[in-house]
Parts: sequence; C-alpha cells; structure tokens
Amino acid sequence: MNEITLADFGLKTNPFDLIVADEESSTKYKLYGRADQLKKIDKFIEQALVSKTQKRILLRGEYGTGKSHHLLQTHQKINDGNYGEKVIAVYLGNLGVSFRRFYEIYIDSLRKQIPEINEFLKTLKPVEPEASVDPAYKKEKLRDNILENFQLITANLQYNEYRGIFLLIDEAEDIVQSNDNEEIQYFIQSLLHFINKLQGLPLHIVMGLSREALFKISNVDEDSSQDRKLGDALFQRFSVKEEIVLGYLSLENARDMILDRLNSARIAKNNSVYPIREGVIKVINEITGGHPRETLTLINKGMENAMKSGTKEVDGNCILPIFATHTLFFNKKIVLDWSRLAEITAQIYEKDNLLSADFERLRGKLIGEGEAVAINEFTDRSHAEKFTQPIGGIRVLLNI
Ligand SMILES: Nc1ncnc2c1ncn2[C@@H]1O[C@H](COP(=O)(O)OP(=O)(O)OP(=O)(O)O)[C@@H](O)[C@H]1O
Ligand SMILES: [Mg+2]
Repeated sequence: MNEITLADFGLKTNPFDLIVADEESSTKYKLYGRADQLKKIDKFIEQALVSKTQKRILLRGEYGTGKSHHLLQTHQKINDGNYGEKVIAVYLGNLGVSFRRFYEIYIDSLRKQIPEINEFLKTLKPVEPEASVDPAYKKEKLRDNILENFQLITANLQYNEYRGIFLLIDEAEDIVQSNDNEEIQYFIQSLLHFINKLQGLPLHIVMGLSREALFKISNVDEDSSQDRKLGDALFQRFSVKEEIVLGYLSLENARDMILDRLNSARIAKNNSVYPIREGVIKVINEITGGHPRETLTLINKGMENAMKSGTKEVDGNCILPIFATHTLFFNKKIVLDWSRLAEITAQIYEKDNLLSADFERLRGKLIGEGEAVAINEFTDRSHAEKFTQPIGGIRVLLNI
C-alpha cells in the first residue's frame, strides 16, 4: 500500500495540526460564524475609548470555542492601530494562575510596544515585599505593590496621551487545569482588588471565561463564612447583559472554517474541500454539534488516517475508526462503541443472512456520508427499514 503525502492532496502543509490558537494562527485564520460577537467586541472597545474609566466585559465560551483566537485577534487589531493612535492592548494568557506573572507580562509587553516608556519603567519600585515584611502579609503586600505600580504606569501612559489600555485576560484554561485552590483564590482576589482599586482609570478588561473555569472559581472558597463568595463578587463586576458568548458552528460555518484552512495551505485558493468528502464534514458537524476544536481534531485525524492507508480522500472509512476511539468533549462519550458494533453485527448475522451481507457491504458508510447509503443499496427494501431503526438504542444508519 502506498502512503499518500500532503502534496497528493494539493497541500503544502497540514493546516489542521494546530488546534490551539496562537498569535500567528489567529491572524492567519478567519473566525467564522462570529459576526455578532466580533461586532460586540468592536462596540465595547469604541465605548471604552469614550469612557474615561474602566470598562469590563466577559467573553464566555467552552473549551476550544475560540476564546484565545478572539482575544489574540483583538489584541492584534488594537495594536495595529485599528482604533486609532495611542490605544494599546496587552494579551495576558498562560499565566499559570499567577498574579505576579500578570504584572510581569504586562510590563514586558509595554516595554516591547512602547520603548519610550522604558526609562520610566526602570524607576518603578520592585514589587517583591521587603524581607522585613511579616511572612503572613507577604502576599498581600506583593499585591499592593503590584497595584501601586499599575496605577503609576497608567498615570504615565495618560500623561503620554494614551486614550485606552485594554487587558485581554485569557486565563480560563489555566484555571481549569490548576489543582491549587489557594493559588486560584489569590489570583481571583487580586483581580477583584485590581478592579476595585483601578476602576477610575481607562484600564479596560476583556476576560475569557468557560463554564468549567467559572465552576472552579465559584467553588474555590466553599468554606468561606462570608455571605458573598469570591467568584460571585468578581462576576458582579461584569455585566451579564453585555457578555459575549461563543457557541458552536453551523454546518456552513464549519465548512468555511475547513475551507479557509485548506486554502491557507494551497498554492492557489479554490472552493473545494478536497481531500475531505463533503458528507464527512456534515457527519462530523452533527456528531460534535459544530464544536470548532473537535471538528478540527477529527478532520486532522481523518487526514492522517487517509495518508497512512493510502486513500486519496477522507471518507467514511477513514473516519469510522476515529469515532471508535475519540472521546467527545461535552459528554465524555466515545462517539462509536466498537465492541457494541461488533455485537450488533453478530446479532444481525444470527437473524438474517442477507441483511448481514448488506450490513457488511455498507460498513464504512455507516456514518451516512451524504448520498452514500441510499435506500436502493439494500438487497431487500425491508432491510432499509431495519437498518434505519435504532438497534439497542444505537441508530446504525442514517435514513437517506
Ligand atoms: N469560529 C471559528 N472560526 C474559525 N476557527 C475557529 C473558530 N473558533 C475556534 N476556531 C479554531 O479552533 C481552535 C480552538 O480555538 P481556541 O484555541 O481559541 O479555543 P479556546 O476557547 O481558547 O479554548 P481553551 O478553553 O482550551 O483555551 C483554534 O485553532 C481556532 O483557530
Ligand atoms: Mg484558549
């Protein structure tokens, strides 16, 4: 069997191997199905620039729905001057839930983006508490020092006629991954202090958040005797009405996302999703509900499979084994239960020889790729009925 290469697919590189947004990919790839969300971010920035005091907005979306992509793209847009001169954005992600990193990355970014501020930054006091500070208060002192420096820096930027500073906080994923409640608590507390203390300044916040992160933040101080929990206190600082929600993609948007990626790896753009079969996109969209990262993951695995097995097209046969091992994010279920399928196959065989032969013949098309399994492909019309009824709760074929 000959292996197929990317070149056989008309691709220079594999455009599906990157499923975590980074600086480069978020400018290279377009966001589909997000017109409303992008408009809201735009409006938020415009309004914040008119206001002289802090504005805050939440960008809510589950794992892999594009939070980082939106934040990085917004970061780029602001710093490219799309909102005029003297507006600056700082992307604060992958902080490992550390407030100190929050500050350090902020300083580093300013240093790179506004070299003329360097001399001033050097005059700031180090934030590390002095040795004489009581160890019990060290963390509080560190936070106070950081907030004080934030205040001084903002005053300096205002003096230099900066109209707005946007902090794009992308910490949801790290919060979900962290097992250190104390660390999360300190980070959230610090953000709360940050908001309370600096809310009179044009230091605006766009914060990415997922349900899992929210859950973690909300439960971080379970045994708190205070009426109001820390998480609640933080979220009350954001308007629920104005939050931006990233949902799943329609079939059309998912296809556009795939096409955009393919075109980025082609010498000449076109409108075909080759080597992916159209029907495969439809099935993946149905199974994942249009989840962006899941869609890209499955397409990537399908491409790998096609190349390994020497198939010139990513069809049902390439996708089926992937469904048998892929755990869906939202319900943690394996898409296709392989052993259950074997059981069903055996049961069909016992019941009806002809039906069993049909079943074998149509295997690999089970996912209902487009027109692939048409009713007239059955030897006996009644088999079409049998196949399209759920057997033991599992629908074996889609009725076409
Ligand atoms: N609407 C979209 N259009 C095109 N590509 C998208 C869209 N949404 C997400 N993507 C792509 O899906 C992948 C996942 O997006 P991203 O990394 O931004 O998710 P996330 O919400 O930050 O996830 P996490 O919670 O794990 O941090 C990226 O490769 C991104 O480019
Ligand atoms: Mg992310």
